[in-house]
Amino acid sequence: MSFNEVVSITSQNFPSMFSAVFRRLRALLGQAGPSEEAAKTRALEHLARASQLEARGDLADAEAAYRTAFALDPLLVEAHAGLAGIRWPGPDYLQWLPHLHAVRRPAVYLEIGVSTGRTLRFAQPPTRAIGVDPSPAIDCEFIAETDLIRETSDDFFRNGRLPELLGDRRVDLAFIDGLHLFEQVLRDFINVEANCLPQSMIVLHDTIPLDEQTQNRVCTTRFYTGDVWKIVPCLKHYRPDLHIETVATAPTGLTIVTNLDPGSRVLSERHDEAVAAFIGLPYAEVAADPARVLNIVPNTLGGGANQAPS
Ligand SMILES: C[S@@+](CC[C@H](N)C(=O)[O-])C[C@H]1O[C@@H](n2cnc3c(N)ncnc32)[C@H](O)[C@@H]1O
Repeated sequence: MSFNEVVSITSQNFPSMFSAVFRRLRALLGQAGPSEEAAKTRALEHLARASQLEARGDLADAEAAYRTAFALDPLLVEAHAGLAGIRWPGPDYLQWLPHLHAVRRPAVYLEIGVSTGRTLRFAQPPTRAIGVDPSPAIDCEFIAETDLIRETSDDFFRNGRLPELLGDRRVDLAFIDGLHLFEQVLRDFINVEANCLPQSMIVLHDTIPLDEQTQNRVCTTRFYTGDVWKIVPCLKHYRPDLHIETVATAPTGLTIVTNLDPGSRVLSERHDEAVAAFIGLPYAEVAADPARVLNIVPNTLGGGANQAPS
């Protein structure tokens, strides 16, 4: 086992996360006003009620109670997570990722957005794992040989570190879970695909938005997908050659992309046009028919054509 840490902190842009963090800190420091405190208390009461309703199988009322809870306290992440669990029953993404490792047995696994390392650690020997995150906060041990690169994904791909790490290999399985903005995920996808094999798999996190607020480009909640979902209609439009399925798994979906073309230049050459065309999609577009817009498939481990190696 080895854990190679590359320390090279570079530019990073955390849009508006600060406002949410600041509000949380202010509350923790006891500086919230009386009405804000009262709303938080009521939110917790609705959260408790929602859990009881859910436990007894009254899902419609539980959903309503979860919604009331996070309307009162948008930072009550447990309320959003509770609603997501009702909306997307079955195995969650932390069950899906080890399943994909077991089925695909990737020689090289690349993860963009590592945070505590709880998903990077799913890589098992002999997989070689590479994690990229400008500010990880690792709280676990890695079993596979792992390189942790402390950079933004843009810097990582720009500075040529990946070819150096890969040698004559390519990325077999990738998980994109970094900055939750559509145009960043598009760039990450372009850069990752260029380093894959045609039979590799790219998995995108946070592609099913829970509601309008949590998919806004400005982050005001702790439960936050941002507008990552726009990557799915964008890829469907510009790259009909890709095989794209979104698994309805809690909390925020996983989009599995296969039939890759590492030599394709369509997205890089039409990048600005693609961003301009899709960045302004309204939430109503996906809310009206998520199954069609996102190519949603049932949340069944081992059930999709995309999951087995080709
Ligand atoms: C949602 S967390 C990742 C969680 C982890 N994959 C998991 O499932 O537990 C997102 C991470 O992306 C990182 N991040 C933010 N901007 C990034 C960027 N431009 N490139 C790479 N990572 C980024 C953040 O530091 C954060 O740790």
